[in-house]
Amino acid sequence: MFAVSLGDDKAELRPLEIWQAEEFLAHMDRARELVDPWIPFASFATDLDSARDLLRRYAEKQAADTGRLYGIWLEPAAQGRGLITRAAERLIDWAVYERGMHRVEWDASAANTRSIAVAKRLGMTRDGVIRQNYLYRGVRHDSEIWSVLAPEWRARTGR
Ligand SMILES: CC(C)(COP(=O)(O)OP(=O)(O)OC[C@H]1O[C@@H](n2cnc3c(N)ncnc32)[C@H](O)[C@@H]1OP(=O)(O)O)[C@@H](O)C(=O)NCCC(=O)NCCS
Repeated sequence: MFAVSLGDDKAELRPLEIWQAEEFLAHMDRARELVDPWIPFASFATDLDSARDLLRRYAEKQAADTGRLYGIWLEPAAQGRGLITRAAERLIDWAVYERGMHRVEWDASAANTRSIAVAKRLGMTRDGVIRQNYLYRGVRHDSEIWSVLAPEWRARTGR
């Protein structure tokens, strides 16, 4: 299995696979409070069986080339070190240079200023706001869509 170094201590970006369910669940338990206000992701993995199911669903998406799941732990101890920006840079490189994608999007709750700050750090442009399109826990949230186009990414990376 490959791992991409993020150049920070031992931080690495790796594919998340079913055999890692136990470690993934332990991480989700530490991250739950941070993630829950924004997205239901943590609620999909609440015990070992549901963690395995989630990882299996992503393995199936990867086999169908419709989605992928990579691991960079998003728990409180990992915040504020630039890890998410660096991980996203690697993924956008892959999308643009390997897969030939023209447009990469960042979709965040308009209230999630830390997530939007990452889009800004990535040099993305704010396409706009979709008003109250995301119903979560009884509240209709606005979403912001940010994007970077392949020519913009090439200009930014100089490749
Ligand atoms: C959104 C989230 C994942 C972003 O993580 P993050 O750590 O803030 O983002 P980055 O990895 O880009 O790190 C940037 C921070 O590290 C600091 N930093 C330290 N070293 C750095 C480096 N070498 N390069 C860039 N930034 C660095 C930056 O100054 C910045 O800190 P600041 O926000 O206090 O100014 C995180 O805030 C989070 O988990 N939020 C709550 C849950 C959530 O929203 N999850 C995603 C739902 S879609």
